[in-house]
Amino acid sequence: MTHHYHFEQGDNAKTPLLLLHGTGADEFDLIPLARQISPDATLLSIRGNVVEHGQNRYFSRLPDGTFDQQDLRLRTHALADFIAEIAPKHGIDMSTLVALGFSNGANVASAMMFLRPEILPAAILLRGMVPFVPENPVALDGKKIILQSGMEDPIIPIANAKQLAEIYRVSGAEISHHLMPTGHGLMQQDMLQVRAWLQSHYGD
Ligand code: MLT
Repeated sequence: MTHHYHFEQGDNAKTPLLLLHGTGADEFDLIPLARQISPDATLLSIRGNVVEHGQNRYFSRLPDGTFDQQDLRLRTHALADFIAEIAPKHGIDMSTLVALGFSNGANVASAMMFLRPEILPAAILLRGMVPFVPENPVALDGKKIILQSGMEDPIIPIANAKQLAEIYRVSGAEISHHLMPTGHGLMQQDMLQVRAWLQSHYGD
């Protein structure tokens, strides 16, 4: 399974970022946001290869709007395989690769953490929700997660965001969860918090 992607070589001393967009966007959508967070980072940005009503996503939804769990698992593994194939070709050390996902992109990043924890050491989840509750406990010790949620998000009930944070917590990940006084859209404060997190964890 292949993906369109965009690569920007940056400063090798900075943490490389894996960009995963929201529904209806593409591999260029998060570039300006990533540049706000880390101006000189290497960026690997991948387009979701499911098209729903003309909108790109990383996995399918069922007609009732819930996630197609079979497709979610299949595409998460395929995405993980794709990243493992191309990241080294671009000189990216995967042990340093941090996901930056918005909405559907955050959800596939969490699915990857649960199903393929070897792929990413850390993830920045912007407006993420529970993709599925892992059947077996996952060991995410040492993983670093920042989750930015909107308290008035009409798509993600706050209880769902808190449940996601709890799954990470019980799995041993180091999770920072910030509740923002806004909806699904991002605010400047999200960027400031993510930047501060990146600086404190990686010195970037
Ligand atoms: C979306 O529309 O992208 C949802 O909020 C999240 C998802 O479908 O994964």
